[in-house]
Amino acid sequence: MAMSDLDTLLNDAQAAFDAAPNAAELENAKARFLGKAGRVTELLKGLAQASVEEKKTRGAQINQLKGRIEAALNARRDALAQAELDVQLKAQALDVTLPGRQRGKGGLHPVSRAIERIEAIFGSMGFDVAEGPEIETDWMSFTALNNPENHPARSMQDTFYVDMKDAQGRWLNLRPHTSPMQVRYARAHAQRHASDAAGTTMPEIRVIAPGRTYRVDSDATHSPMFHQCEGLWIGEHISFKDLKVVFTDFLRRFFEDDDIQTRFRPSYFPFTEPSAEIDMMFGHGPLKGRWLELAGSGQVHPNVVRNYGLDPERHIGFAFGMGPDRLAMLRYGVNDLRLFFEGDLRFLSQFR
Ligand code: DAH
Repeated sequence: MAMSDLDTLLNDAQAAFDAAPNAAELENAKARFLGKAGRVTELLKGLAQASVEEKKTRGAQINQLKGRIEAALNARRDALAQAELDVQLKAQALDVTLPGRQRGKGGLHPVSRAIERIEAIFGSMGFDVAEGPEIETDWMSFTALNNPENHPARSMQDTFYVDMKDAQGRWLNLRPHTSPMQVRYARAHAQRHASDAAGTTMPEIRVIAPGRTYRVDSDATHSPMFHQCEGLWIGEHISFKDLKVVFTDFLRRFFEDDDIQTRFRPSYFPFTEPSAEIDMMFGHGPLKGRWLELAGSGQVHPNVVRNYGLDPERHIGFAFGMGPDRLAMLRYGVNDLRLFFEGDLRFLSQFR
């Protein structure tokens, strides 16, 4: 074989290696030239019949060729490895000039905002804030509030009755109002002060208790789950006059509007005597001149004061229960209560 054939073989090998797109293809190409049945091996086998002289010179030339092909192979191997590394590095590259991904800013639910306002305003008037259980005993929800078993007044609250008792065998319900918190808070308060030195006057009870409440009710202005905020002020000389001042002041601050009037409308609740609905009226705006019902209230019934563990001859005061949902609707101009509880971000994100 002439020298130029060896050159051609080298060129062929170089071309085959260059054409291999990856390591696996490169190994295939290597086999075609350097493998057991490869073209270089065939050349060496062909020397078997050659003369001693020819074996010497041709053999040396073929071995030289083999060395060059191996060098070309290694060069291509390195090039492929480098290319692969480049691809990887590019894929992992951090573009530090890209703007960061922003976290959407959340916001408080409008009802939570209303409750926070209520707490802040009553807090500034010296009211404590208490929270209590949503699963309540029948005794706390009704009996303690002067609403005995089987009394028709129980139907004023369409409670979800649950066929379930607690460990002490007491019937349970989802509380239909926050009024049980009057009893829970006042009893704890009375106990705290029972151990005081004799003759000291028990400090006043001044508390609000916001939270979730439940009733069998569902339309544009009623939801099976809704919110109430209870208020209780018990002292020695607390009267309806105080209730009116406190509640009117609260409303004017809640709506940031001094042009608001309130009125008491006679009503009935088992736990108060006398009882009243509190209505309010805006002096301007779209609701101007319309009385809006806002809360139930009254002077706490002596039987309830007794259930607080206090003496109704000495401890007198008022209670009220209002709806933060209603207040939020009025403040934010929302006309369907259900919007608050559907969790639709298109609605909620307007309050951020
Ligand atoms: N608990 C009553 C209701 O859910 C509201 C209420 C009325 C609360 C009078 C009171 C009150 O504390 O004195 O309808």
